[in-house]
Amino acid sequence: MSLTEELRTTTAHAVGRVEEVPPGEGRAFVAGGVQVAVFRLRDGSLHATQAACPHAGGPLADGQTDVDVLVCPLHLYAYRWTDGASTSGAAPIRVYPVHEVDGEIVVEMQDHPFPDAWQAQAEGA
Ligand code: FES
Repeated sequence: MSLTEELRTTTAHAVGRVEEVPPGEGRAFVAGGVQVAVFRLRDGSLHATQAACPHAGGPLADGQTDVDVLVCPLHLYAYRWTDGASTSGAAPIRVYPVHEVDGEIVVEMQDHPFPDAWQAQAEGA
């Protein structure tokens, strides 16, 4: 394990109320200073990912989703919710654990000892 990996910790961030995200849609939030996109599926489950598409920065919160994939609204690349992998072989998206606590959306983020570099990575730079 590298020093960077050893220094990482996970922090839970309450980003907003569940009702701010209509069923079947996504919304952008900030979690720990990082832009994230949170989706509430029609079955009530939540998913979270980075806000900007790694392909060309498309707004992932405006994408279309189902239980399996998120489709970016700009060029329609699809990404799996399970691991963030692109179904077309493009760079993956980062997926974050997310859950509801008393109506609040809670996103778990790995803290990084070098936050500027981590933010750039999260945004696909
Ligand atoms: S910006 Fe998302 S697929 Fe091109």
